[in-house]
Amino acid sequence: MSFFTIATFLTATLLGTKPVEGATVADSCGSWDASSVVCINKYASVLPGQFSRAIPANLAGTDSFAATEVPSDTSFASIANATFIVYDSSVAEDILGSSPNLEVMFTTPMINHEAPIYVPDSGHLYVSPIAQADTELLLIDVNASPPTLEYFSAEPPLYAATGSAYSDGLIYYSTTGINDTTTDDFVTTGIYTFNPKTNETETLLNNYYGYYLNGADDIAIESNGDIWFTDDYYSWLDQTATVQPTLTPAIYRFRPSTGVVQVANTALSQPNGIRFSPDGKTLYVTDTGAANGPVDVSFDEIQYTWDSKGARTIYAFDVVQYSSNTSSIINGRPIYLANEWAPDGLQVAKNGYLVTAAGWSVDILDQYGILLVQIQVPFRVGSIAFAGEDMNELWLVGMGNIARVQWALQGQ
Ligand SMILES: *[C@@H]1O[C@H](CO)[C@@H](O)[C@H](O)[C@H]1NC(C)=O
Ligand SMILES: *[C@@H]1O[C@H](CO)[C@@H](O)[C@H](O)[C@H]1NC(C)=O
Ligand SMILES: *[C@@H]1O[C@H](CO)[C@@H](O)[C@H](O)[C@H]1NC(C)=O
Ligand SMILES: *[C@@H]1O[C@H](CO)[C@@H](O)[C@H](O)[C@H]1NC(C)=O
Repeated sequence: MSFFTIATFLTATLLGTKPVEGATVADSCGSWDASSVVCINKYASVLPGQFSRAIPANLAGTDSFAATEVPSDTSFASIANATFIVYDSSVAEDILGSSPNLEVMFTTPMINHEAPIYVPDSGHLYVSPIAQADTELLLIDVNASPPTLEYFSAEPPLYAATGSAYSDGLIYYSTTGINDTTTDDFVTTGIYTFNPKTNETETLLNNYYGYYLNGADDIAIESNGDIWFTDDYYSWLDQTATVQPTLTPAIYRFRPSTGVVQVANTALSQPNGIRFSPDGKTLYVTDTGAANGPVDVSFDEIQYTWDSKGARTIYAFDVVQYSSNTSSIINGRPIYLANEWAPDGLQVAKNGYLVTAAGWSVDILDQYGILLVQIQVPFRVGSIAFAGEDMNELWLVGMGNIARVQWALQGQ
């Protein structure tokens, strides 16, 4: 900004008048292609003139920052066209690299997909469908050019796997599907392992003292091997469970060696994505309670409700030892309120940045929850995974499409 621009901008701001002509909300920036990357001045903290942001009535609709109407600002309309929105240009190059791109790689049936997980040994990315009675997994060969997709079944199959983690040659899954009308014992929500070398699954946890879990949504593995998982109502709302929820939504810690399951938190509305920071000292959990629905209804009456005033939040917790070799989580604090939809799946980059799938956007935050960059996605994305030989691809899965982002940010 020139001195004159700064002076008039400051004057305008101090006097509370509209910013002068020339002080636009959005600008091209850096050496990036202006049609794909746009930079936002000062987090758009002052929008000129009147503005309005429509609020959708249901989960399938979305409102976005970019779709806000700001008639007095001629730059604003360019935001909707950009793939990448930069809020903090001082770190954008570290995230985006010199030529970031988003490409839709595969189309899928119009059902939700979750739990993407990359197996470095094989270069395979596994993805799970979330639909009634659907147990066919997707296997993507990420490093083939172009990448390929095939469908297969694990043995025994997994039903509605919504969370995943990779450790020592095994994929650990949390699954949400429950079907008490069949005699197949695999169709129960819980924690499972999948061995990519044999395609075999094993059950680690399928109940809480005889109760079904509501729906074990996502998992994160602590350095001592304990499995932390979230339990929420979405399998009921997704109609991938035949039984109503019976327990309060919660975060649990499960020790596979002893079988102990202990509750760690019941304060969140619908705890969902869960990940540790690279040093293991912080646990991040997303709360998607804005997407909810009545549970005391019959199966045929199930429906989602959307409330923009509900939880659309990432919480950070301090991980502390409370007895030898056993952790607890304290000081839960909200660090991010999503500016679109709700933060669902979560990943932590190698440098500690948070990456969350929030509907039609993927948000990149620093480790304290400050929004740095946002990716606008042409379909609803609920889960993401780092992949590729250098772990610098991000794969996006959700409704109807699977996409790949190539950029500079690396996974762990
Ligand atoms: C956004 O993209 C559309 C379709 O490509 C184009 O018609 C429109 O002019 C673009 N708007 C701006 C502000 O760049
Ligand atoms: C596991 O399934 C994949 C995908 O169909 C297949 O390519 C692979 O050969 C299977 N592995 C075994 C051990 O059956
Ligand atoms: C800590 O607990 C894990 C099981 O969660 C166990 O495998 C490990 O041996 C324990 N370590 C110590 C030092 O007790
Ligand atoms: C339960 O299983 C039956 C028989 O396979 C199937 O028709 C039904 O769709 C399943 N329901 C759910 C919620 O998985």
